[in-house]
Amino acid sequence: MPALVSTSSIWLDGALVPWDAATIHVLSHGLHYGYAVFEGIRLHRTAKGPAAFRLTEHLERFADSAKIYRLPLAYDVPTLERAVGDLARATRLEEGYIRPIAFTGYGEMGLDPTGSRTQVAVAMWPWGAYLGEAGVKKGVRATVSSWTRIDSRSLPPQAKCSANYANAILAKLEAKSGGYDEAILLNTAGLVSEGPGENIFRVRNGILSTPPASAGILRGITRDTVLTLAADEQIPTQRTAIAREELFTADELFYAGTAAGITPIREIDGRPIGSGDFAVTRRLQALYDKAVRGQIPQHEDWLSYLT
Ligand SMILES: Cc1ncc(COP(=O)(O)O)c(C=O)c1O
Repeated sequence: MPALVSTSSIWLDGALVPWDAATIHVLSHGLHYGYAVFEGIRLHRTAKGPAAFRLTEHLERFADSAKIYRLPLAYDVPTLERAVGDLARATRLEEGYIRPIAFTGYGEMGLDPTGSRTQVAVAMWPWGAYLGEAGVKKGVRATVSSWTRIDSRSLPPQAKCSANYANAILAKLEAKSGGYDEAILLNTAGLVSEGPGENIFRVRNGILSTPPASAGILRGITRDTVLTLAADEQIPTQRTAIAREELFTADELFYAGTAAGITPIREIDGRPIGSGDFAVTRRLQALYDKAVRGQIPQHEDWLSYLT
């Protein structure tokens, strides 16, 4: 099990504290009931210093997640942007992952969260591709999960709430125990939704498609980036329902997310996907790598330089 590589500091409730001092009480409300919202953002080394990718959009989604779950956030988006900048300068990290989290702290021990203060933390640390560098290069093996993706009538999927990820963990562990790298979840209608922590894309006859927001997905910022980059390249795109069997008949499939980047799926439940050349996926991977490093001039506004 690889250990988490620590940095010097963590931003906790408005101040930078040493990494080891960023601790909370075991009776923190959010720990017991999953009442927390979080984000995942990437920091990349660029010619102009370290830059966070689409920072404002991520922090706006963080605020939206809190609003959906009625979790009071004491810090607005500009304050959190400054916190990320202060932390990047303190840790001197140039490439890695940024994790803002808001959760109910130590207060009362019942389901009602209103007696517990909301705490906010931002951490950053070095972290490679979530499904591994080999996965990014050679593709991963996926399985359609027996677990159904959460839906708006129970746990709103468009909020990055910690409780939502119990569903993702069930799917992830099932996939791993079956010898696969990752899961694909179907929604309550039996249609393709997404991976446990990544959106999914299909290429067939040159058309790039991905399930719509109503399919029980998180509206991924990488998903939006991929759709924008594909449109720039005149690759036709569709946000459309994808049936399970359409996974098997794809020319190419890939996962897209901040943690996973763009990772091809080379096999699903024993069926190889397409010819295995992943031509469109490779093109989009190359564009994405340029975009996150500020090398596509018309999209440089996606970067927040943190020097
Ligand atoms: C469930 C889920 N879907 C999709 C994504 C991809 O979203 P993004 O590209 O904004 O990281 C994530 C990651 O945050 C996720 O947790």
